[in-house]
Amino acid sequence: MEIIRLEAVKKVYQTGDIACEALRGVSLEIEMGSFVSIVGRSGSGKSTLMHVSAGLDSVTEGRVFIDGEDISRYSEKALCNHRNKKTGFIFQSFFLEPAYSVFDNISMPLVIAGMSPKLRRNRVAEVSEAVGIAHKLSVPSGRLSGGEKQRVAIARAIVHQPPIVFADEPCGNLDSENSGMVMDLLEQLHRMGTTVVLVTHNAEDAKRANRMIKLRDGRVESDEVC
Ligand SMILES: Nc1ncnc2c1ncn2[C@@H]1O[C@H](COP(=O)(O)OP(=O)(O)OP(=O)(O)O)[C@@H](O)[C@H]1O
Ligand SMILES: [Mg+2]
Repeated sequence: MEIIRLEAVKKVYQTGDIACEALRGVSLEIEMGSFVSIVGRSGSGKSTLMHVSAGLDSVTEGRVFIDGEDISRYSEKALCNHRNKKTGFIFQSFFLEPAYSVFDNISMPLVIAGMSPKLRRNRVAEVSEAVGIAHKLSVPSGRLSGGEKQRVAIARAIVHQPPIVFADEPCGNLDSENSGMVMDLLEQLHRMGTTVVLVTHNAEDAKRANRMIKLRDGRVESDEVC
């Protein structure tokens, strides 16, 4: 069964008089539990595709179905609720709250979900152990190294056990050792049943997925099994 379905999705960014067509009619389906990589040149629409699929941005035309629900029709409140239940997002530049502790960064989705402090502590302990950052829970995230920051960001993306994890160039700011660590964690997530969608410029990393979708100028250029 598919967990993500895009139907003729168009996205136009309007900046003053200039319109940029970032997605020009993308239709695709992603199976539940699959590991998909999105590749293509800079500016081809990869991040835009991730953002509209994750409900972080709206579409101009077309529809986005997640788990059979048309999220392109959702209100902002419904969308927030949807993101908190269904998705985790890992960014190239981490997007952590630098003054907040590692614990507070990781537990944010659980606070939004209204989980009790006791359950939150247990869950954060479990997930921070799994990604190897449990020894830094009280440190402000701004004082961590890049590799450590991405461990925190991954923990935050999976702490609420979402069925889909989007990772937009998660290794883009990391050295090869830390990139390997991030890829291993994504693979592990996939093995545990999470649907993983990865944007990458690295051909080796892209091939670790089951399927590779290549974008070109806002359209799907190729879509193949790895
Ligand atoms: N917020 C925005 N406002 C205006 N134009 C935008 C905005 N975001 C993206 N674009 C434009 O949309 C197109 C697709 O951008 P997108 O970020 O999706 O590309 P990308 O494939 O992720 O590129 P990269 O590999 O460099 O991250 C580009 O031409 C970009 O300039
Ligand atoms: Mg991008």
